[in-house]
Amino acid sequence: MKSIKFGNTSRRKFIKTGAAITVGVATTPACTLESSPDRSKKERGELNEASKKLLDHFNLKYPIFQAAPGGEALAVAVANSGAMGAVSLTWETPENAFDLVTRIKDTTNGNFYANYVLDSEPESLDMALEAGCPIVQFSWGIPNRDLVSRIRSAGARLGIQVASRLNAERALELNPDFMICQGMEAGGHVQAASSLSDTLQEVLEVAEGVPVLAAGGVTTGHDVRQALVAGAAGAVMGTRFMATMESDAHDIYKENLVRAGEHSTAYTICFNNEWNGTHRVLRNRTFLEWEAAGCPQTGKRPGENDVIAKYPGYEPTLRYSIEPPLQGYKGALDEMAMYAGQGVQKIDDLPSAHELIDRLWKEFENS
Ligand SMILES: Cc1cc2nc3c(=O)[nH]c(=O)nc-3n(C[C@H](O)[C@H](O)[C@H](O)COP(=O)(O)O)c2cc1C
Repeated sequence: MKSIKFGNTSRRKFIKTGAAITVGVATTPACTLESSPDRSKKERGELNEASKKLLDHFNLKYPIFQAAPGGEALAVAVANSGAMGAVSLTWETPENAFDLVTRIKDTTNGNFYANYVLDSEPESLDMALEAGCPIVQFSWGIPNRDLVSRIRSAGARLGIQVASRLNAERALELNPDFMICQGMEAGGHVQAASSLSDTLQEVLEVAEGVPVLAAGGVTTGHDVRQALVAGAAGAVMGTRFMATMESDAHDIYKENLVRAGEHSTAYTICFNNEWNGTHRVLRNRTFLEWEAAGCPQTGKRPGENDVIAKYPGYEPTLRYSIEPPLQGYKGALDEMAMYAGQGVQKIDDLPSAHELIDRLWKEFENS
């Protein structure tokens, strides 16, 4: 088991600082990054050609994208640190999506994308575009031509997550600005059925100059370098960014990410009440009891009618819900779906997004 570190601050102070940052989002001064990023020759020299193109295309300082989860404060902090921020809009109302995009736009240089999981209709898409969402990225499906033409008419860019060569070939018919290639090491819902290195090679073979970003288990600057050496233009990080001060994960979830070790995650269909997709989570009590019972189907799962958590204004959360424990939930939070990728074993602390990105780049340069 790993020791828990909270940087130079005590646990109590950490919680207070985290709260202050969250509250401070609405009033954060606009963009702390100049529109033309200050990249030294050395930094650019460390990058492959695909990465250089990616940085120029999106006006980024680093070839690092936040994955969809983490919330508004994290997206703002990542974008203002020279990487690409992200916000998940799949389950937002159109009004909330409009307000969220407007706020992130007003407090950053616009380096963020909105993610939609295509298992449901992207109902807030038009309002997000009206608010000026600069980039829309889809996962778990290929968008239809109508969705793409709405995005293009609004002047926004398009990203698509892929998890195989065939999947990438379908995505490429829509001329995306980038593709995210997900491997099985990923935390959250996992579209992939093979390792990142295998999937990435297949996808790169057909990508024809479209930048491909690698997702799944990328946790350190060394991992980012490995992705670039393999030919990716950049890397996408989900679990690592969930374990930061600004992420909207509940403190109990963050602590579990920090404690997790080498064999802590499972690739499973355990948490499937609202969506029956394969996912990678921490092996917690709910998972272990379901596994011990023989991984039974709905109707026969141990404790499946237990209310294990509540969030103000929402239906109570049942044991096999796909909801992760975010800030504001109360209850048996470590029995909920705590999504985590295989790189979680390398997470030892809860830095700010800015500190993390700085560290990732130093590790990248030194590896
Ligand atoms: C807590 C959590 C929530 C996620 N939610 C989404 C989501 O809403 N949409 C999506 O496309 N991917 C989602 N993912 C998957 C990420 O997009 C990405 O593929 C994954 O985090 C990469 O692997 P890593 O976690 O090892 O970095 C989620 C991942 C995590 C850890």
